[in-house]
Amino acid sequence: MPLLPYALIRPWLFAWDAETIHDVTLRWLSATQHSPLRHLYAQTRIHDPVHLAGLTFPNRVGLAAGLDKNALCIDAWQAMGFGFVEVGTVTPVGQPGNPKPRMFRLPAAQALINRLGFNNLGLSTFMSNVAKARFRQQASPMLLGLNIGKNAHTPIEQAHDDYRACLQAVYPLADYVTVNISSPNTQQLRQLQTDQAFVQLLEMLATERSILQQRHQKHVPLFIKIAPDLDDEALQQLCDTLKSHCMERGKVKDDAWGVIATNTTLSREQVQGQPHAQEAGGLSGSPVRQASNRVIRFLRQSLGPDFPIVGVGGVMSADDAVEKIQAGANLVQIYTGLIYAGPALVTSSAQAIQRQAPSTG
Ligand code: FNR
Repeated sequence: MPLLPYALIRPWLFAWDAETIHDVTLRWLSATQHSPLRHLYAQTRIHDPVHLAGLTFPNRVGLAAGLDKNALCIDAWQAMGFGFVEVGTVTPVGQPGNPKPRMFRLPAAQALINRLGFNNLGLSTFMSNVAKARFRQQASPMLLGLNIGKNAHTPIEQAHDDYRACLQAVYPLADYVTVNISSPNTQQLRQLQTDQAFVQLLEMLATERSILQQRHQKHVPLFIKIAPDLDDEALQQLCDTLKSHCMERGKVKDDAWGVIATNTTLSREQVQGQPHAQEAGGLSGSPVRQASNRVIRFLRQSLGPDFPIVGVGGVMSADDAVEKIQAGANLVQIYTGLIYAGPALVTSSAQAIQRQAPSTG
């Protein structure tokens, strides 16, 4: 347990506007992550190593993308005991995102709605922040995922240029790279998950990845992050494309690919009638859990036992984390659960998963 009991400070945090307190908290974590004050939120990392995609994850609980878009607090996340942390989404050029207000709490549903729109400081600031992080100086450090996207002003037909530029820049400092094609807050982005656009994207990424692997003499798998709102037909098509482009004889080619399921949902079915439910944007937290688990089950069944799947969406308790593993995920990530339950959720989830399915690492 962290020294600072989250249940005591949460009412104070929730008294503020959601985005304001988010920014204040990140600034505080960034300012304290290398000082003795980090003991206020530090916890022992659960040792439960898992081999996946050619990497060894120290445990199965990670921070989901979007909480630390500019990679400001990487060492604070390591102190909280995460097995892996994903920062970003970063876009080639910094951009302000959508007008405020654009982030809302729905406490009765343990949920958030956001339409931030990839607000971030851009690749060069992002990479200089990543380079400053000290977590790799520790013995058996957590792993770092760098999540990439496209600028709002880049036409969807030129999205490849943005992903390529981001991949080239982040590759040397990433343990894995997430290709985010599922944010609901960047127009037309989700089209990249479908049909020929998805095939072309995978081909571009495969070519670029092998060039970068040669150049840097480093293995970095690519994880594709998908939406929970794909119907069975779209999911089947996506799986067929993954099988034909990323797998050979039932195995993942070069340990190079994985899927992250899922991003936020556009559905409001679970929160009808609640304050803020009609705000535009992506819904996260409890209401997305079942939709995310459905996608994970589908992927596992279709892609077979060896395809790396990271489960995310609605992990609010240790039981929810275990449920994701039971649905077929190899690893889980948390965002909204951290806002509602605090850092103790990281350790309790990692422990519960370890008890339920001890690793062989
Ligand atoms: C997100 N998420 C997200 N995902 C991503 O790949 N890039 C991003 O920039 C963001 N930004 C973002 C902002 C906010 C405010 C939220 C709540 C979420 C999605 C996130 O990583 C995760 O996939 C979903 O939120 C579902 O998980 P939780 O929140 O239910 O644990």
